[in-house]
Amino acid sequence: MKLVEKNPKDSSKPAKEKESHHTPKGAKRELIKKFPVRCNLEDYETAYNEFTWDDGRKEISYFAGGKVNAAYNAVDRHLVDGRKNKVALYTVGADGALNKLTFLEIYEAANRLGNALKAIGIKKGDRVFVFLPRVAELYIATIAIAKIGAIAGPLFSAFGPDALRDRLQDSEAKVVITNPALKDKIHGIKKDLPDLEHIIVVDTDEKDLIKNELSYSSLVAKASTELKCEPMDPEDPLYLLYTSGTTGKPKGVIHVHEDIVGHHMTSKWVLDLKDDDIYWCTADPGWVTGTVYGIFGPWSLGASCVSYEGRFDAAGWYQLIDRLKVTVWYTAPTALRMLMKAGDDVVYQHSLSSLRHVLSVGEPLNPEVVRWGMKVYGLPIHDNWWQTETGMQLIANLPCNAIKPGSMGKPLPGVYAAIVDDDGEELEAGELGRLVVRPGWPAMLRTVWRNEPKFHEYFKIPGWYFSGDNAWKDEEGYFWFVGRADDVINTSGHRVGPFEVESALVEHPAVAEAGVIGKPDKERGEIIKAFIVMANDTAPSDALMEEIKEHCKRTLSAHAYPREIEVKDSLPKTRSGKIMRRLLKAWELGLPTGDLSSLDDD
Ligand code: PRX
Repeated sequence: MKLVEKNPKDSSKPAKEKESHHTPKGAKRELIKKFPVRCNLEDYETAYNEFTWDDGRKEISYFAGGKVNAAYNAVDRHLVDGRKNKVALYTVGADGALNKLTFLEIYEAANRLGNALKAIGIKKGDRVFVFLPRVAELYIATIAIAKIGAIAGPLFSAFGPDALRDRLQDSEAKVVITNPALKDKIHGIKKDLPDLEHIIVVDTDEKDLIKNELSYSSLVAKASTELKCEPMDPEDPLYLLYTSGTTGKPKGVIHVHEDIVGHHMTSKWVLDLKDDDIYWCTADPGWVTGTVYGIFGPWSLGASCVSYEGRFDAAGWYQLIDRLKVTVWYTAPTALRMLMKAGDDVVYQHSLSSLRHVLSVGEPLNPEVVRWGMKVYGLPIHDNWWQTETGMQLIANLPCNAIKPGSMGKPLPGVYAAIVDDDGEELEAGELGRLVVRPGWPAMLRTVWRNEPKFHEYFKIPGWYFSGDNAWKDEEGYFWFVGRADDVINTSGHRVGPFEVESALVEHPAVAEAGVIGKPDKERGEIIKAFIVMANDTAPSDALMEEIKEHCKRTLSAHAYPREIEVKDSLPKTRSGKIMRRLLKAWELGLPTGDLSSLDDD
């Protein structure tokens, strides 16, 4: 049996932070318990012992014969439950322009687009991708696609041609919905996308359309506002989201319509959404948080959501909270660290009195940020843990429980999480191991698109879903994140596969070989660092390194370029020629590299 370390050594964390993550005693000493209102879930222990997902299903509207549609639950049902004229979406443009759409308006707009998609031949199961910034059409399109039973593919608007090609090619996408500023990226790779039939462009004139393009506004103008929501099998796909692993191209994670049960219950318990809340999820729907907790979950509860198109800016964010009187705010550790860096004065220059609940996800949330949040916002920040694959929050600091700063919280009712060794044996409290979950929660990934073997890798030991994260659990059942078990990089909460960055690097003519790792960074959690070998004796220079970075930004994505590049004469490889990223990481962190004579293929 291969044992996992008993004394966790987190190589991906700065030493100072390590202590607080690994000291059960310290963890017990500091508890934060302060929640300003009555929470939706008041008694964790009872719910944990008694709740089953069938109880959750009772809160979801099903059609005859057990059919369901996530979009019906997110939008249509609010036309008959008194929320018809309630604001569903506040959109704030990059220029500050504010628009509001009620549930009725979203319903009609989505129906029009759904009808238009059907009219151009889109059928149940077809893949329709949305490549837009955070504008109203992004939300409307996601609902429209789900309503007609097609599979929605969210795309981050900063993606470059390589990232787009990987996703659109593998999924055999039929339609992409985009805008005039982004459409050229699709045209540039169109020749590699034989299945792509239409590019639907928002905010465009008919006269500006080119080959394969259709105007969004012309399509919907002709379409009816009446559309029957497609009754789906609970196991039918809802959305397809690509995410990165250690090896190979991004994998298409398939989620299904019954995920809505998990979206609904977790938005109720963890986000604690109530009818008078104004809720802002800062994540882009190109990432799982933005799709699940920016669209389906909060709308299933009938909450008013805020979508902000602009970039991060401390004063701008606080202004937005004040302007729209945001009450529940779901954001990420990097953003919170950047806000902390922006200082306390900027907080006090705005009225944040509307805020009642702050949450964070995507990367480790430093205890000092939680303490700072208590000081300046007067509120604890509730960290929670989940993944693209889990499709919903699984471990969380619930409003009804005390927070231990630095911990991700406890498993939600209906979720059994554990720490195991490599054989799947459960470990004692305080021992570092693999974070696993008992399969069966409603939003669990159902497959990996056209890659069953990859799907089965998550379940290598029957009875457990392996998350790929290392963690430990304390005696009171709180989970503490330690690091990834693999080479996946988490930069500013964005999951990046080293292979994708290495592939982009070697596309540059000056780069012969590349190895990429995550390097600990105080603000971004990790930054991407590349080790490269120059091609054909090219002389390295600062200008060339900048050009290589730009090349990665342009072709792959603005978030996935190496902020640091180090030139080497050669890179350490296994006998079969695989670059040893673990050794690169050890070099970077000044850790012992072990016996290099036995480089093996792991
Ligand atoms: O390593 C964990 C980290 O983010 C990974 C999942 O990334 P992604 O699929 O992009 O989903 C992010 C948003 C749900 C996890 O495997 N992660 C997520 N939440 C936390 C976290 N690391 C530490 N603390 C968290 N709360």
